[in-house]
Amino acid sequence: MKNIAVLASGEGSNAEAIVRYFAGSGAARVAIVLSNREKAGVHSRMAALGVRTETVPRELWNDGSAVVDILMREAVDFVVLAGFLCRVEAPIIEAFSGRIVNIHPSLLPKFGGAGMWGHHVHEAVIASGEKESGITVHYVTKEIDGGEIIFQAKCPVEPVDTPETLANRVHALEHAHYPTVIENLLK
Ligand code: GAR
Repeated sequence: MKNIAVLASGEGSNAEAIVRYFAGSGAARVAIVLSNREKAGVHSRMAALGVRTETVPRELWNDGSAVVDILMREAVDFVVLAGFLCRVEAPIIEAFSGRIVNIHPSLLPKFGGAGMWGHHVHEAVIASGEKESGITVHYVTKEIDGGEIIFQAKCPVEPVDTPETLANRVHALEHAHYPTVIENLLK
């Protein structure tokens, strides 16, 4: 049984999709969810699913080695970023090299990098007149959104789309694909 740690800062809908997918799989489980925000919606979502969460204060994320200690304590094999909006520092990346992935709500390398997260991404996609958007799963490296791409899936951008309607379409794509991409990486 492999132990997955999910890092999340927001609502946690991807965390929920991952927990539900692996429930009863026998191959892997979400052992813990770590957040940088005490008030993130992910905490109540995980409580409802019986998954433990922990809020790690900002200064510990800035160093990273204390987070590695937590991940080791939890015997974590694989780290999954799902709407995690804090920088992941070198000690974590080095300890989990090749075993730490992120999902980004656009077709990288387009609309990635500093400041490009959540609704900012969808606003930029619509403003630029793109006809399609999508999701990218990639390895986490020191470069923001710059690690090797593992998987992409596309969806249309409709002329009537708002950032909210596009976000909903992208979220559906994330929930459909992220768990199976993780499963394949764990094999
Ligand atoms: C997701 O769309 C994810 O791709 C995005 O935040 C959302 C989190 O939703 N991540 C980023 O923008 C990272 N740059 P969730 O909290 O409901 O899973």
